[in-house]
Amino acid sequence: MSELPPEIDTSRPHPARMYDYGIGGKNHFAADREVAEKIFTAWPGGRTSGRENRAFLGRAVRYLAGEAGIRQFLDIGTGLPTTNNVHEVAQQVAPSSRVVYVDNDPLVLAHARALLTSSPEGRTAYIHADLRDPQAILNDPATRDVLDFSQPIALMLVALLHYVPDEWNPAEILATLLGALPSGSYLVASHITGEHDPAVAAFERADRAAGTPAQLRDCSDFARLAFAGLDLLPPGVVPVSEWRPDTAGPLPTPAEVSTYGGVARKE
Ligand SMILES: C[S@@+](CC[C@H](N)C(=O)[O-])C[C@H]1O[C@@H](n2cnc3c(N)ncnc32)[C@H](O)[C@@H]1O
Repeated sequence: MSELPPEIDTSRPHPARMYDYGIGGKNHFAADREVAEKIFTAWPGGRTSGRENRAFLGRAVRYLAGEAGIRQFLDIGTGLPTTNNVHEVAQQVAPSSRVVYVDNDPLVLAHARALLTSSPEGRTAYIHADLRDPQAILNDPATRDVLDFSQPIALMLVALLHYVPDEWNPAEILATLLGALPSGSYLVASHITGEHDPAVAAFERADRAAGTPAQLRDCSDFARLAFAGLDLLPPGVVPVSEWRPDTAGPLPTPAEVSTYGGVARKE
C-alpha cells in the first residue's frame, strides 16, 4: 500500500475497485468491498451481472477483431487490468490490433503497465482521462499516435454509461466521440438496468451514497442513448448473456444479469 500514489484514496469506494471485487479480481480495498457487499446483499445477482458483462466484452471484441476485421479499439472505462483485457482478446485473433485504454481512476493508472503488454505487431496506450471531456480523449497525443482515425475504430463503453447521469448530457458526449470515428467503425456498449429486478436499485443507491453518481436505464432509454443513428447488429440490445453466447449451457435469467448490451456499426 505504501507504493500507492497519494491521490488514491483507499478510504472511499470506487466503481473500478468494486467491479474488480465483484468479478473476482485482486485490486480492491475494505471500503470497496464494504459497499460492494451491501449491493450484493440487496441484489444477489450483482456478481453474476459483472461476470456476464465481462464475458460479453470478450465475445464482442473477438467478433470485431475476427469477423468484422477491426484492428483499432478505443476502450473508455477500461477498469482494473484483469483477465481478457481488450488487447489480449483482440491480439489473440489479430496480433496487429491497437488499443487505447482510458479510465479516470488513479488506481487503474497505477496498474496500467499490465495493459501495455502488447504483441510486437500491435500497440497499446493508456490515458488517464474522464469520459466527460471526450475532446481531451480524442486529442490526446497517445490517442493520435496509436489510432488512425481514417480507418475504422471500435469504441468500447462497456459498463460505463450507467455512471453518466442525464444531467451530464451523455448524448452529447457520445455524439462527440462517434462523430470523430470514420464510417465502418463500431460501438460496443453495456448498461445496468433495473427493468427485471427492482433490487438492482441497490446499485444506484449505494453508488450515489458513496459519492459516485449512477443511473439505471431501461432498454429503450439505453438503446436510444447509445445506438441512435447506428446500425445495430443482431441480436440487438439484449441482456449481455444473450449477445451471441458461445456456450450451449443454460443462460442466467435477465433478472440475474440485469445488464443490457449491444454492438452497432456506423455507416
Ligand atoms: C464497471 S467498470 C467496467 C470495466 C470494463 N469496461 C468492463 O466492462 O469489464 C467501470 C469503469 O469505468 C470507469 N469510469 C467511471 N466513470 C468514468 C468516467 N467519467 N471517465 C472515465 N472512466 C470512468 C471506472 O473507473 C471503472 O474502471
